[in-house]
Amino acid sequence: MGTRLIIDTDPGVDDAFAIALAALSEDVELLGVTTVFGNVPLSATTRNARRLLSLCGRSDVPVAAGAQRPLVYPQPHRAHYAHGVDGLSGRSHVLPEPERELEQAGAVELLVSLLDAADGPVTIAPIGPLTNIAALLAAHPGVREKIDRVVIMGGALGHGNTTAAAEFNIWSDPEAARRVLTGGEVPCVLVPMDLTYRCAVDAEWLAKLNGSGQIGAALHALTPDYREHYNRALGWDGIVMHDAVAVAEAIKPGILHTETFPIDVDCTLGPSRGATVVDRRRAELRDDTDDTDVHSDTGELGRVRVATDTDLDGLRGFVLDRLATVTGR
Ligand code: BDR
Ligand code: CA
Repeated sequence: MGTRLIIDTDPGVDDAFAIALAALSEDVELLGVTTVFGNVPLSATTRNARRLLSLCGRSDVPVAAGAQRPLVYPQPHRAHYAHGVDGLSGRSHVLPEPERELEQAGAVELLVSLLDAADGPVTIAPIGPLTNIAALLAAHPGVREKIDRVVIMGGALGHGNTTAAAEFNIWSDPEAARRVLTGGEVPCVLVPMDLTYRCAVDAEWLAKLNGSGQIGAALHALTPDYREHYNRALGWDGIVMHDAVAVAEAIKPGILHTETFPIDVDCTLGPSRGATVVDRRRAELRDDTDDTDVHSDTGELGRVRVATDTDLDGLRGFVLDRLATVTGR
């Protein structure tokens, strides 16, 4: 059996690529998908997730809906500017209708039951706001031992994409992100936008996806609004498949190069709200200026592995190979 995986998601065009990547990979045991508000409201992210699993022939995978809003401060801004009116460039109708009923249980309940039932350690890949995962850790500390790694798409080492300082997923619920990333409760791998931008794919890659078969063509059909947004953001014709980069690491540990750093999340209400403050100073300098923090159980600032590099073409090829399947599973 391959990697046991649960994806927590807000589809989203790049979430669509990420879900398909996991759903089509034979070395992945996709246990479930949980949804969260984010790119579009929860009702749309949930419907999109269910339709994507239908596209991939994965009606065996349960889907449960989670948080409709952040933990503490309401945050009404969705990312229609990038993902279109329905979260999939206004093209969600190209996907098949969902085949499987939505779970009666909510996202946190489904996470708990899947973790409890799992035969061994499970990887969780949150690729939206971290609200469901923070709620899980707060309400069910006992499940921690079943979690192998939490591989998160989010954060920025340099500038943000939603504000000058903050990346969208962390900015959408900074208090939740701080709980997950700095609490020291579960091993986290953070895949920040600095690296996902470097993994951007071009028109040639997208054309290959389009020509690869029914699933590749359907995924490609979801990209027009997203591609238009990224043409402006990148300055050339391509897209950034942020969430698929994180899911690649979740299903093939080590495909991304990681380094361990102390981290904090700015939860103030000022201009850097939602910024991930990753301490990349030399350890010697850090020690000299240490004023030990008190965010975690141990009294130390949380440390996470941060993805800083990869074989860019290798990563692009890995994702394309797995999405370029003719019929799904
Ligand atoms: C992240 O924000 C969302 O718009 C994408 O789906 C991705 O998870 C990138 O900043
Ligand atoms: Ca996402």
